Amino acid sequence: MKLIKIFSIVLLLSFTKTTKADEGMWLPQLLQTLNEARMKQLGMKISASDIYSISKSSLKDAIVSFGGFCTGEVISDKGLLLTNHHCGFDVIQNHSSLQNNYIRDGFWAKNFGEELPNKGLFVTFIVRIDNVTKAALAGVTASMTEMERQNQIDKNLSEARKNAKKETRQDVMTRAFFEGNQYFLFVTETFRDVRLVGAPPSSIGNFGKDTDNWVWPRHTGDFSMFRIYADKNNQPAEYSPENVPYIPKRSLKISMSGISEKDFTMVFGFPGRTTQYLPAIAVEQIRTVNDPAKIAIRDKALQVIDGFMRKDEGIKIQYAAKYASIQNAYKKWQGEVLGLTKTNANAKKLDYEKIFQQRVEANPAFANYKSLLQDLNTEYNAFKEYGHARDYYTEIMSKIELFTIASQLNALANAYESNAEKGYDARLKSVKAFIDGMIGEYNVNVDKKLFEALMPLYANEQAAVFVAPEFSSKLKSVNQNFSILANELYNQSDLYNEAALKALLAKPAAEAVASIRAFEAVQLFSALQKNYQSAVQKPSVEISNRLAKLQRSYTQAQLEVMKEKKFYPDANSTLRVTYGQVGGYIPKDGANYGYATYLDGVMEKYKPGDYEFDVPEKLRDLYSKKDYGAYGTNGKMPVCFIASNHTTGGNSGSPALDAYGNLIGLNFDRVWEGTMSDINYDPSICRNIMVDIRYVLFIADKFAGAGHLVKEMKLVYPKKKK
Ligand code: ARG
Ligand code: GLU
Repeated sequence: MKLIKIFSIVLLLSFTKTTKADEGMWLPQLLQTLNEARMKQLGMKISASDIYSISKSSLKDAIVSFGGFCTGEVISDKGLLLTNHHCGFDVIQNHSSLQNNYIRDGFWAKNFGEELPNKGLFVTFIVRIDNVTKAALAGVTASMTEMERQNQIDKNLSEARKNAKKETRQDVMTRAFFEGNQYFLFVTETFRDVRLVGAPPSSIGNFGKDTDNWVWPRHTGDFSMFRIYADKNNQPAEYSPENVPYIPKRSLKISMSGISEKDFTMVFGFPGRTTQYLPAIAVEQIRTVNDPAKIAIRDKALQVIDGFMRKDEGIKIQYAAKYASIQNAYKKWQGEVLGLTKTNANAKKLDYEKIFQQRVEANPAFANYKSLLQDLNTEYNAFKEYGHARDYYTEIMSKIELFTIASQLNALANAYESNAEKGYDARLKSVKAFIDGMIGEYNVNVDKKLFEALMPLYANEQAAVFVAPEFSSKLKSVNQNFSILANELYNQSDLYNEAALKALLAKPAAEAVASIRAFEAVQLFSALQKNYQSAVQKPSVEISNRLAKLQRSYTQAQLEVMKEKKFYPDANSTLRVTYGQVGGYIPKDGANYGYATYLDGVMEKYKPGDYEFDVPEKLRDLYSKKDYGAYGTNGKMPVCFIASNHTTGGNSGSPALDAYGNLIGLNFDRVWEGTMSDINYDPSICRNIMVDIRYVLFIADKFAGAGHLVKEMKLVYPKKKK
């Protein structure tokens, strides 16, 4: 019986044409040792040193962290940069008005002079990565408290950063890996003059909006273009009209050959955060406690904002980026809950833990790890109610701008009260910058409704200890009527009036602080914050510290005990490579998804005048004439495709590269069934979604008439090579 079973598995493996998938977000400097052989087996034609090298030009020299939250890549020798539409969206929004509505109509600079500068936007190249684990952990002992340990490491790392070899224009940062078991140092180069070059209208760049977000099959042209500017010596510089287009060390070549099933692909970028090595109990808490709490709060917030955006074009521009970002995680968490449930992540983790425990018990060398899982369970159980309260507090407070402003002013007043003028002045600049950034994206009617919708959750949906007594008594004074309370707080205040706020901050410190303290909203915020600190943070800090330590040993223990597994560090916004193959998947019984979509699918989804599925007339024309230029294939225009690369948030805008390292696509999303891959990757249903690079070129050239940009690029035809 057993033999037959093994036989049929072997047969299955050799005959199915399934896409090969390897879990993992790998460090580029370790590819040679850990991954190169496997990557070649999957079809890669270049070597690890073509991807990352510090002695010669390599692909990494074309990759940037875009603003610290997305990825971008250089695609011309004039510093032209490609990233997603949704990564450039805040910038596009900031340049938009009812007169020049670039969100709705798109934007294309016809020459360098028309490219739009962006205050605060930067891109960062990685020059070099060094392992500094030994230096970081010098003097660290097992008996240290978490605080002592961290202090020692911070001291060591600051020393390591000081001693790092680098040019003056370069920066150094260090990051913890494997929960603080390893440390790496990054020498970086940051450019701060990054200008908007082009963006399609949202009806292309965000086609399908929320309905299609996180979903395959997909038809979104999620791209925008920027340009890096440098000073006359091609060095990083603050914005100046004198700056010139940056001449990069490396730019990506663009493949016009298209993709086929099982083609090798890799994605090179800056994945933000994953938690792959949690115990079952932690995953179960995410699935049943934290995700549902955050989803419920965002559900209410989104309903409010959406209601206003649909009725008012001005609010639609103002709240577009905020709405998209709240919606994005909201929908992802729902997919995550479904995926964790459907793939039975809990049972899988428990099986894994059983094997772990058996091996630990069987080997005296692992004696230290014996009670690890049990201790983790104890601490996670103890943390559960605090985790819920933390999510409630942070989710609600961050959605109500009355509180985000109050929080800034409160911090300013605190700085004055503890450090007089010196403290006040030190803080003032960041408060002003915050107000500058938020005020244009704020509408008092929307915010008031948010208060009325969310504060009942705060007051009524959690244990009484987590509700500030001042808030309860305030509520009592208005007979539990949240809109009376909202009127009281919002009507009296200069808190969200830009001119009044600026006047306030121009006063001498003592006077300004007196006015700040007089705001009822600031008093209320301060009460809520104090209660949060005393009821949530204080009692849970000990548990968190123990958890951090346990989680660190559990990660180390897994490395030692589960030897047959290849471990990669959790994503932490550092440069990584992930690789796989182009291929579809089976989302559910009876359905089989293909790996590519075409413009035909855009037209199938087309709903004239719709909020999400309208299609610009020009694109419909090009479609009806099949006018695809050199970008179509067999009479069809490719739009998106999927592959088995293991990606996460932050990988947006990452290049998808072919076997030779040519650009074939632009990563922008994952499929619904696989959104739980941050916690529990499953190769059968986890796929990343990319815009086909030919669609990017088609839209820029044929749709937008920006063929001059395509002329800057180097197009190649690798498949003809064979
Ligand atoms: N889900 C993608 C990501 O996580 C795309 C988000 C932008 N699109 C949107 N409709 N919000 O960033
Ligand atoms: N859209 C995501 C981002 O902004 C990438 C998709 C994902 O989370 O995998 O980075």
